[in-house]
Amino acid sequence: MSPTPEPHVVGRRTPRIDGEDKLTGRADYTVDHRLEGMLHGYPVPASIAHGTLESLTLDAARAMPGVVDILHHGHFPDLHRSPNSMRQGDAVSEVRLPFEDDRIHYHGQYIALVVAETLEQARAAAFRVEARYHREAGVVTGLATGDDEGEAVRHYTRGEPELAFGLAPVILDRTYTMAPESHVPLEPHATLAEWREPDRRLVVHESTQGVFYQRNALARIFDLPIERVEVISHYIGSGFGNKLFMWPHAVATAAAARLLGRPVRTVLPRQLDMMTTGHRPASRQRIRLGAERDGSLVSIQHDSLTATSMVDRYIDACGGATPSAYACDSVAVHQRLQRVHHGTPCPMRAPGEASGLFALESAIDELAVALDMDPLALRLKNYADQDPRSGLPWSSKHLDRCLEGAAERFGWATRDPGIGAMRDGDEIIGQGMAAATWFAGRQPCAARVTLRADGSVLAACGTQDIGTGTYTIVAQTVAELTGVPMARIEVRLGDTELPAGPLSGGSMTTASTLPAVAAATRDALAALKAEATRAGGDFAGLDPASLAVEAGALVADGRRADFAEILARLGRSDVTGEGSAAPGDERREYSFRSFGAHFVEVRWDPGISRLRVARVVSHIDIGRAINPVAARNQVEGAIVMGLGMALLEGLVHDPRDARLVNANLADYRIPVHADVPEIDVELLDYPDYRFNEFGARGVGEIGLTGVAPAIANAVYHATGRRLRDLPITVEKLL
Ligand code: MOS
Repeated sequence: MSPTPEPHVVGRRTPRIDGEDKLTGRADYTVDHRLEGMLHGYPVPASIAHGTLESLTLDAARAMPGVVDILHHGHFPDLHRSPNSMRQGDAVSEVRLPFEDDRIHYHGQYIALVVAETLEQARAAAFRVEARYHREAGVVTGLATGDDEGEAVRHYTRGEPELAFGLAPVILDRTYTMAPESHVPLEPHATLAEWREPDRRLVVHESTQGVFYQRNALARIFDLPIERVEVISHYIGSGFGNKLFMWPHAVATAAAARLLGRPVRTVLPRQLDMMTTGHRPASRQRIRLGAERDGSLVSIQHDSLTATSMVDRYIDACGGATPSAYACDSVAVHQRLQRVHHGTPCPMRAPGEASGLFALESAIDELAVALDMDPLALRLKNYADQDPRSGLPWSSKHLDRCLEGAAERFGWATRDPGIGAMRDGDEIIGQGMAAATWFAGRQPCAARVTLRADGSVLAACGTQDIGTGTYTIVAQTVAELTGVPMARIEVRLGDTELPAGPLSGGSMTTASTLPAVAAATRDALAALKAEATRAGGDFAGLDPASLAVEAGALVADGRRADFAEILARLGRSDVTGEGSAAPGDERREYSFRSFGAHFVEVRWDPGISRLRVARVVSHIDIGRAINPVAARNQVEGAIVMGLGMALLEGLVHDPRDARLVNANLADYRIPVHADVPEIDVELLDYPDYRFNEFGARGVGEIGLTGVAPAIANAVYHATGRRLRDLPITVEKLL
């Protein structure tokens, strides 16, 4: 793919074009959206984790003010399960329909939906619903400890990992565990469903990362042609993977709206959001490393066990990055799955690999200690110059620059490797590092660009902006190719009526969307040139190919005419271009990944048992950053999330009955500003033109990978305590 010309708007630090809408409250988040005559839904959760719902007593709830109806197993329409196919684009997070039967599989599973005139009325009535259960024994919570527990689901091998491990002069065999984590998006999950007359079209506003998947799934479930379903998600108060695919609250809300003939909005309260819309599952990972005395890795074995629910089969692929991480001839990755009585887990930012790198990059640090080697030197010693998984060259890899650049900026050379050897007053300083990596992918995407007679441009694509800055980079792309100022470019996203765009997931949005927007822009410019060279046009009789585009105008023969003038002369209100883009065959020749390095300093004050992260230096190689200010913001946010993963976050299920005990933001701790240190992020600038014409690989997830092990490694350096169970809460250091 040939590169676009020197960056002017693309690649420039650009304020968000939606910033003002967000600050002024004009941005229409689903939780804020209102419709005339709208009712409010409030789900009622099961209070047990395993058993049968024997009866519901609804008289008291029905008698509460404002209550319109209560939906439940005995009062719910017959619907169809979605086939839940990624390929057919109708994937859902939980396959089971709401109120499908009287079985209870996890604490929080919906047993009813109260619908009332106001949110407060619906909530008050929900607490008056009385349920009787038959509890069943044998509740499963927490991961088993045996190596052969669970169902084997994935397997990768190259070379002779067992044999090489047996013969290696230096070996390491360690097990790492991680608590489940909650996504806690700022905007909870929410659905506003309306069956619009005259043809009873289902129009749904949803805080979702994938409007098309939800549209297709709703069409299957309600047995409608897809043309009669529209899903809208203009603004999303973040989505870290638990808004990729639909959850049951949306189905229940759409069913209630149809039954009652009025729009219904359900906004999940924080507790239900944490109980019923997924989490990063618990994992238990065993890493075995074999090395020569000089540090050369001869064997890597990565066995992981992750949890899923009784009703769905979500695989969190912890070993995803391992085969590509280091130059090593013998590698095995096994993945097993165990069913527990929890809600269904789902992808959470850098799913699988963030957990996997906690284990792998902790183990590499442990190996460095065993070899009495610098952990940075050990990583460079085993540097993979090509992808050892595929044998293909990397499209663009500058992990060495990340490791060396961040080390220099951090001052790694002055680190004293002795345990507890670095002090500052009462505090012991610990310094640790780890590598980061995330795959680079693309999805098919279509877009439409309209040049308008008032000189403005409209760009439209169905994909979503989940808070990451998609609106802005789409406008930058149009500005780059047309020379129209950013202020005159309008962007519409997040609606299934627009040209089909991808999920906002997997850090794929930039690389998927921008080439489609560029194609549509070029198509619109070609249409304008054709018009301008027609009889009566500004450039009548000229060859359209002789026209150049310059700052919102067409130029030829020393003459220029603005897009607006050209359209006005022809009496046209606009011209429109369509474009699409899809992955090509680039993966046959190259491997595509992003890379990075995190260096972390922790401070441990043993006198008052205080552990804090004092500074982070991260160098990240993502190809070209389209908007460096937003891209850096993604990495900074991911590092904060990594700090939470390392030190604070963990869902706790009561081992006696599998009830989730900390589904609230008082007991489930996430980093606050006071926990967040100086974060110094450098984005390397090596555009990856083998991936797309803009050289961008995407940036949403990479920043999280490697943060937790870098912190755990720093804690070891400070304290001599190797903590292999996340989160590393202070109690574990006492
Ligand atoms: Mo991401 S876990 O693909 O939203």
